[in-house]
Amino acid sequence: MIRIASLLLGVILCILVASFVTADKGPSPLSLYVNEKGIITLPDGFRQKWTHLGTWIVTSQTATGPKTSEKAPGIGVHEVYTQPESVKSHNRDGKWPDGTVLVMEIRNIQWDDMPTGHVMCSGDVTGWFVMVKDSENRFKGNPNWGDGWGWAAFKPSDPQKNISANYKEDCADCHRAARTTDWIFIVGYRTLRD
Ligand code: HEC
Repeated sequence: MIRIASLLLGVILCILVASFVTADKGPSPLSLYVNEKGIITLPDGFRQKWTHLGTWIVTSQTATGPKTSEKAPGIGVHEVYTQPESVKSHNRDGKWPDGTVLVMEIRNIQWDDMPTGHVMCSGDVTGWFVMVKDSENRFKGNPNWGDGWGWAAFKPSDPQKNISANYKEDCADCHRAARTTDWIFIVGYRTLRD
């Protein structure tokens, strides 16, 4: 009887040890919003839960000077959010930790007359741009990943489907202008400095 009990105990111990070892070897998920294939989904509730980094108001006026272009492709109110822990970390060492998600929500500019004056405020949402930090190049060969980030864009008609197939074609040319600050236009994010 005692022999059987100790045998059973031995087997249970072996199973426990084996499960710890395999748990250790399993891939650690980068983010709740990235699956094992590197498919990015739009975070929910970021406006309520995350830190607002800053706002860009892109008017219909085209850029002038060295950045002249024939049109203003980004017209709208652009509001940028990230996780509070990532802000703390960035304020400490100037780096975005792996799993940081930056969401830029684009809304129509709504014009109105208020007791304060003729105002611009956020109208309906027209899309979201999302970047997820990955310093280890986890998704080699996936065209939505590279230069330290995962890149995605979503439309309100299907907020779970990334409409960008290739960040090099859809995102990198513009973002290269911010490559010295890890591809992020931090000049607009007063929350990181004030
Ligand atoms: C026409 C140029 C242009 C294209 C194309 C573009 N971006 Fe941006 N993006 C910008 C600029 C400029 C900003 C900051 C100023 C603004 O929003 O006007 C920005 C801001 C962002 C932000 C907020 C964080 C940051 O970098 O400051 C995210 C997230 C983002 N873009 C993701 C993307 C993704 C993903 C793509 C491709 C699917 C993309 N962008 C394509 C120019 C561009």
